[in-house]
Amino acid sequence: MRFIPIYCFILLISSQALAQKLTLNVGNQLDYCVAQLKKELPQQTDYTKEPRRIPAGQKSWNTVSVTDWTSGFWPGTLWYSYEYTKDPALKAKAEGFTKSLATVLDKPVLDHDLGFQFYCSYGNGYRLTQNPAYKKTLLRAADSLATLFNPNVGTILSWPRPVPNMEWPQHNTIMDNMINLELLFWASKNGGSKKLYDIAVSHAMTTMKNHFRPDWTSYHVVVYDRKTGRKIKGVTHQGYSDESMWARGQAWAIYGFTMSYRESGKKEFLETAQKTADVFIKNLPADHIPYWDFNAPGVDSPGVDSPDIPNAPRDASAAAVVSSALLELSTLTKDKSLQTKYRAEAEAMLTSLSSASYQSHDVNNAFLLHSTGHKPNNSEIDVSINYADYYYIEALLRLKRLQEGKRL
Ligand code: GLY
Repeated sequence: MRFIPIYCFILLISSQALAQKLTLNVGNQLDYCVAQLKKELPQQTDYTKEPRRIPAGQKSWNTVSVTDWTSGFWPGTLWYSYEYTKDPALKAKAEGFTKSLATVLDKPVLDHDLGFQFYCSYGNGYRLTQNPAYKKTLLRAADSLATLFNPNVGTILSWPRPVPNMEWPQHNTIMDNMINLELLFWASKNGGSKKLYDIAVSHAMTTMKNHFRPDWTSYHVVVYDRKTGRKIKGVTHQGYSDESMWARGQAWAIYGFTMSYRESGKKEFLETAQKTADVFIKNLPADHIPYWDFNAPGVDSPGVDSPDIPNAPRDASAAAVVSSALLELSTLTKDKSLQTKYRAEAEAMLTSLSSASYQSHDVNNAFLLHSTGHKPNNSEIDVSINYADYYYIEALLRLKRLQEGKRL
């Protein structure tokens, strides 16, 4: 009997030690991100080229032109780093890489990606500096994006060009497009036309009705008759199959409907965000980082050398997007058990992303390893990619605010 209290004491101490080990130190992770960025900055001196990916074996980022769909993430990451550090050198870099994007608006609109490009760069820049020139550019970008809206369908045309399997010139809408609505919501409240709000709500409503299967997994793309608005088919472009749950597509859905609920207050968007999050969380592997597609083939016989699940490539970018979205969702849902569930899952994902298995450290100058861009095209498989880093630092900053008792 004398030994029981001692035993309990040891148990208490060791469980406290374990809890401490498992608790994410957000400040340390943000410091790590800034240190990685500072290693890279001397290599990035040309503002007209935006870092996009680091392939295996390389230390430094490969760049792309400002017209690339990912061009806003690097300046956005710099803005987040400036927000954390208040370092004027990071601000100067953020300004330089942001300004060069403006030329994108001098040409006819390429596609729906204007939201990714401008809201991540100019949007964060405006939020942090209130520079009126940034506001002007954001309003221009929103008007340009709105020209792709087709009222017969009720959504934005994501790819205004022939893309395989999209029955061009019929109308296509991809789940990723949900993220670009944030630019329209913002513009409608900041001097732009109120029609931009209506377009964003119509796009989200139509997507909600047509992009989900009964189990709330999503189609990557829906093709519509451009004159009648009839749904022709749901297909994939970057996923494993038309009926599979492509990890990043589902991540865009969770993030996009969470944001659309925040901006519109429409309950059906909150329910959609919750249902899409629940099916994503339920099917995650033990380390909380999804395979590139939840329905990619699995190995039939364990131990066999195979590229299939559990050896299939992960997509750290999908986990980064979802961790950021879940932090916000945990503050929007009224259900206490869901608040706890989403916050805990976001922290579990961020803890896993912040482990030695996913952080880059000396491997390269990115924050994170192991993202997958376009597996069916055999491109950007198991690489570092700028949008993984962008949503990772966004999520860390969101968690920091929540830990400090602040609103997002
Ligand atoms: N928006 C393209 C992608 O998520 O890969």
